[in-house]
Formats: sequence, structure tokens, C-alpha cells
Amino acid sequence: MSSESRQIDRREFVVTTAAGLAAAIPVRLFGQGPAPRRTIDPVVVASANGNRFKNGGDVTCVEKAFGLMSAGTDVLDALIAGVNIVELDPEDTSVGYGGLPNADGVVQLDASCMHGPSRRAGGVACLEGVRTPSLVAKAVMDQTDHHLLVGADARQFARQVGFTIEPDLNTERSRRLWLEWKRRTDPHRWLDPRTRAQAGLEAGLQMAAEGLIDADHFYGTINCNGVGPSGDICGVTTTSGLAWKIPGRVGDSPILGAGLYVDGDVGAAGSTGRGEANLFGLCSFVIVEQMRQGRHPKDAGMEALRRIKANTTEKRLLNPRGLPSFNVSFYVVNARGEHAGVSLYQSKYAVCTKNGAQTLDTEPLLSGRADE
Ligand code: GLY
Repeated sequence: MSSESRQIDRREFVVTTAAGLAAAIPVRLFGQGPAPRRTIDPVVVASANGNRFKNGGDVTCVEKAFGLMSAGTDVLDALIAGVNIVELDPEDTSVGYGGLPNADGVVQLDASCMHGPSRRAGGVACLEGVRTPSLVAKAVMDQTDHHLLVGADARQFARQVGFTIEPDLNTERSRRLWLEWKRRTDPHRWLDPRTRAQAGLEAGLQMAAEGLIDADHFYGTINCNGVGPSGDICGVTTTSGLAWKIPGRVGDSPILGAGLYVDGDVGAAGSTGRGEANLFGLCSFVIVEQMRQGRHPKDAGMEALRRIKANTTEKRLLNPRGLPSFNVSFYVVNARGEHAGVSLYQSKYAVCTKNGAQTLDTEPLLSGRADE
């Protein structure tokens, strides 16, 4: 099935619209008649772009996911329908179509998904040509015995199962920003790869400081996790990865236990931010294991952040205060529907419950900003 055909599926549109209305008027919906028996009030948590981008529509990712799961759609399908809004939005330069490309100007996408009830998972890395890598990750989960397909072979798999493959996922904006980065770094004049990589990082951070790109989009991503009305727990993470990365670089997003981890009995955690810092400690797995031992989502997330701080010792990754010069955030929910957004430095996260969608401050481990 192509990404386009998913967008215009009429049955899904009707369900989504009805669910969207339900989410918009929760008091009427939940106040009328006998409430269905629930073990839990559904909840969706996501990175802040989950309640920012609408791609020309009238609902955000978390609203759409919440509405669909409340109307009975499988929780993972609901979450993926939510992140598809952001993947397809040319204005979000951190995800899918229009995501910031790699150092060669090619958009390479990573994604993973986990389905708590069935204990299944799928992922893709370095995928080119498909606007909705989350759906390809789901196809890996549904249609293969594997958890991760990468590169040209992931694209070939996507083609074989019916996705539309496009020659280039750049938008005018993402291409313009890449050309600006090329102009600033001129990598052919840097013969030492370490110096060249550092120059690329510094040019990118400087462009974020100048407001040319959203600082959160430098390592930008969307993670979205949910607990449905029957207690089903699922999650999805999708990204264009580090802006202007070395071609072939894979971040945390498609790696189970790093950019996403779900245990159907315990909860879910996923991340945005510097993938290398998260990969080193498999922090989403750590968070879910902490929750298994009874810790609240916020305390579990803080433990992971403390480990990232402790493991960040290289001078080039420290700010003038000797603290990490980057951000990492986690979006966490447990089986009871308790949730948290935590980050090294204060950021935002998105939540949708029966009371509607909100963008909240994350709980920071550290004061101040990453770059000061
Ligand atoms: N967290 C996204 C990445 O580092 O690729």
C-alpha cells in the first residue's frame, strides 16, 4: 500500500473524523450514557512537534492518534496515523518529506515501531525515497520475520510491498538549508576527517543559534507512545536523523531499546535529541526496566538522563560549564497511563488525554541551556 493511498482511505477518514470530534468534545462524549468498562483512560505522549504540525489539516499528531485509539483503532495504527501527519508535513524539517538531508544532500530516514500486545516490532534505517518510514517499519513488523532493514535493501523492500518510491524527498527549504551548510563548511578544504566532522557540527549549531533551523530539529525526530482504552501499549519513532550527517549514519530512532522501547505489561519510552548519547546507554530500554521495578515515568526517565550526563566526558561534547552541549528528551508512559516528558535541558512535550491536547514543559535534569 502506498503512503498516498493510506492518506485518502475513506473508512479511515470517517473513523478519524468521528474520533476527532470525540477528542474535541470530550465532556459530551464521556459524559453520555454508561461509560464503556476501561482499565485505563487512554493517553498519547509525544515530542512537542506532535502537537505543533497539522500539515494543512485541523488535528495534530497526538489528537489524531488519541481520537483513533479511543474509537477502537489498534493503538499502533493510531499512533502511526498521527506521526504520518508530521512525516508528510514539508514544514517539519526533522522528519520524513522535507527532513534535513545528509552531507551529500540526500534525505535518509530512520524509523521503528513496537506493538506491546503482540510483542512485535519493526524498523528501517537509511531509507531513501519513502515519505512515511514509520509505515515501512510497520510493514517490516507485519510482513517479515525481521526487526530491521537498512539502506537500498529497505527501499527495495518498500517498493516490493507497494510503497511509492520518489527520487528525492528534499523540499525547496531543506535543499536551501543544506546548500547553506555546504557553503559554510566546504568539506573539501578539510583533509582531517575529525576536523571536518567538527566543522560540520559547529556550522550546524551556529545555524541553529542564528534561527535558520529549529535547534530541536538538528537531531530532530518525532516519538509518539500511547496506551489505549484496553491497556494496549505501543510506540513509534521516526526521523530524518542528524542534519547533514555522514551518509549512512544511523541514529537511535530505529534501534529497539534506544529510540524506542515498549513492554506491553510495563510501558513505553522513546526519544529525541542526540542519538549517539542515547545509543551508548540504550536509554529507552533502561527507562522501561526502571518502570518495571516500580519507578514513576519521570523518575525512570531521570535515571536515563543521569547516565547520559555521566557518559558524556569528551571535551568536544561539553559546554563551558562542563555539561553536555546537546539535548536529549524522553517521552514516557506506564501501563497505568501515568506519563512524563524529561530532558537534559528544559524542552516541551505533547500529551493528549480525554481533556484534549496540551504542550507541556519537560522536567529538566540540568538548568540553563545546552550551549551556555
Ligand atoms: N534522535 C535522532 C537521531 O539522533 O538521529
